[in-house]
Amino acid sequence: MASTAAVVRARLWDGPTRIVHWSLVILIVLAWWSAENDKMDWHRWSGYGVLGLIAFRLIWGFAGSGSARFASFVRGPAATLAYARTLPSRAHADTPGHNPLGAWSVVAIIAAVAAQVVTGLFAVDVDGIESGPLSDRVSFDTGRLLAKWHHWSFWVLEALVVVHIAAIAFYLTYKRSNLIGPMVTGRRDFAADPGLKFAPLWRAVLVAAVAAALTGWVMKGLRLH
Ligand code: HEM
Ligand code: HEM
Repeated sequence: MASTAAVVRARLWDGPTRIVHWSLVILIVLAWWSAENDKMDWHRWSGYGVLGLIAFRLIWGFAGSGSARFASFVRGPAATLAYARTLPSRAHADTPGHNPLGAWSVVAIIAAVAAQVVTGLFAVDVDGIESGPLSDRVSFDTGRLLAKWHHWSFWVLEALVVVHIAAIAFYLTYKRSNLIGPMVTGRRDFAADPGLKFAPLWRAVLVAAVAAALTGWVMKGLRLH
């Protein structure tokens, strides 16, 4: 039976989660483009931007609003399997946040982005000219190995992003559920207000300051001055 019960328009995603998402998309594309076109200064700057965003998102996953917290969407195998069985049904679930299956793809994408950034920080190119700020902490050979992992993790990230976009297209066309709108506006129609709790602005500012400080420290090669 198709769901006709969507009656309440309520907040789902907070501002920080949405800003982080769309900024990640822009900066990851910029990081890829700059690497492909040998603009390594741009590459490092966009990479540092991604580092700051992912640091923010990781902390926000514990200290942020209801729908952004990992504990609110990461579920065990039984719940994930039970949800997966409902996929062929065209009725869309009324989950106030990531569904149990989508949650694992979110965890995988965040982990892949983190791996991409961390390997980049230690990477060094074949003639030692281009390097990440932590490459002097490891031997040249280790830096080269991490540069290889940096290439491979980008394939993984690309594959996950393809699956991510395919899943969103599946929800849009097969399940007639637009997930993109809420990721832009923050609001969605529900059968009943899910009553999510939202973190105050000061907490987002505090977490952003911590993420920026951590990023600055990494950019300086983990040195204080
Ligand atoms: C580099 C490309 C992308 C990356 C790394 C990425 C990453 C993510 C992450 C980490 C989340 C979880 C949000 C959170 O809880 O913080 C997410 C959710 C989402 N993304 Fe993306 N994304 C990318 C591209 C896109 C594109 C191009 C679209 C639009 C077509 C899109 C639409 C969405 C939507 C609608 C959600 C919410 C899904 C839901 O309702 O559960 N993403 N994405
Ligand atoms: C999401 C973030 C990032 C993405 C998507 C990304 C992607 C890439 C890609 C695709 C390449 C290969 C270019 C090619 O030769 O075809 C590359 C190379 C490189 N990246 Fe990143 N990168 C990211 C973050 C970083 C960061 C944070 C750093 C360090 C500050 C970094 C440092 C490097 C270096 C030094 C190379 C050259 C390695 C070599 O020539 O073998 N990257 N990156």
